[in-house]
Amino acid sequence: MALVDQERSALPVPYAMELEFPDRVRKERYFDPDFYQMEVELLWPRVWQMACRLEEIPAPRDFVEYEFLDQSIVMLRTDDMGVRALQNACRHRGVRVVKGRGTCESGFTCPFHGWCYGLDGKNTAVPRRRGFSEHNLEPEDINLVPVRCEVWGGCAWINLDDDAPPLRQCIEPFATVLDAWTVESLRTEWWYACRLPVNWKLAEEAFVEMYHVVQTHPQLAIPGMRFSLRDGEAFDPRAFIDAEIRYLRAMSDGMAGMVHANDVRVAEGLRDMELPADPTLAISTWNRALNDAVMSWHRAAGADMPDLNDLDARGINLSFLSCFPHSFVLPMYSSAASYRFRPLGPEETLMEIWSLTRFPEGQEPGKPTPPEVWECDDPRWPPIPAQDFSNLPRQQKGLHAKGFEYMRLNEQLEGHISNFERTVDGFLAGLPYEQLLPALQKINVYPFDKPILDVGF
Ligand code: FES
Ligand SMILES: [Fe+2]
Repeated sequence: MALVDQERSALPVPYAMELEFPDRVRKERYFDPDFYQMEVELLWPRVWQMACRLEEIPAPRDFVEYEFLDQSIVMLRTDDMGVRALQNACRHRGVRVVKGRGTCESGFTCPFHGWCYGLDGKNTAVPRRRGFSEHNLEPEDINLVPVRCEVWGGCAWINLDDDAPPLRQCIEPFATVLDAWTVESLRTEWWYACRLPVNWKLAEEAFVEMYHVVQTHPQLAIPGMRFSLRDGEAFDPRAFIDAEIRYLRAMSDGMAGMVHANDVRVAEGLRDMELPADPTLAISTWNRALNDAVMSWHRAAGADMPDLNDLDARGINLSFLSCFPHSFVLPMYSSAASYRFRPLGPEETLMEIWSLTRFPEGQEPGKPTPPEVWECDDPRWPPIPAQDFSNLPRQQKGLHAKGFEYMRLNEQLEGHISNFERTVDGFLAGLPYEQLLPALQKINVYPFDKPILDVGF
């Protein structure tokens, strides 16, 4: 029996996916203030969040503020090159001790009355100390409150929940696949941010299926490419190579670097290679040759570069990975794009995009320039995100139509949206981690063309 036809137990969550069918998503999940408030209280404080990229704090005592919802966390590079996270609220009268980013000498001083905190967050000075009673200056009670922090994949991650399992357990198999891609050696080439007038889940769900590609990104539907070859169609190796290179260039121009211009040039260098007449053999010959050429080019330049044919052989040459609830990495050949989504309100989202690439050892760029936040219709957006952004505000508005009740999902192509929304429900229902982990591990990887899965609740 198909999963959509099974009777399901309802979780005590308003507009829960299970109340009707797992292939229908009630519209209220994307704007109802009470539903949003449940996410604020029950989801975000229990999940691992990517708080900063490590190149934002490359040297000891560099710090950056990570804000989400009404919270602010100080991410501080320690002298032993670890990362410490502290709640950004002075224990005197609550002022945010740091703002933005910078480098400190020996700690932080609150700008209001001058309480001081060391690099470990411990209080080191209280001016006019004698005026406070003992019970307000208990030593353990006047330090900046520590936050759980772990480092993985070139990023520092935080979790407000002391009972959550360790980072790695919560983000598998995303972490294992991206370790094989050596994502920790990627560095920021550029970093942009967008304010989207839509719910954070709606924003993410625009990037987790390929169903929209033909209509939204017509420049990526290139005849003759490996994905569009049909049985019995005459195969022309020259036309195939031409289509492949056109696709790589469309991805490179469209995302300003997801397929890096260097890799497109490497592919151009293979344009005249001979391919077998058999299409299956030709495609695998081309893939192997391009993987090898890209790898050799970057290794010769002195960059840390994974063996792409080895990734193929292991079945993990995946070009789009998502990690619950808000991080994406899209590796292609030497480089990658990466996204992060943060809710700013029930119908407002901050989306960031990084273009990441590899640099010869010792030639990595310095701290990346933090993005100015652009509106989603800003003409500076590269063509592919601009196309995605053009739909989103229209969709958020359309959801409010009186006659529209729920989204109807394609069970085979848009299953990830259901799996993701039902995992959200698991958090909102307050399920224990034993139940949430198997769901997370099902959805934390390649989201495209995923059918609706049984997430276990
Ligand atoms: S609020 Fe920080 S010193 Fe008073
Ligand atoms: Fe898209």
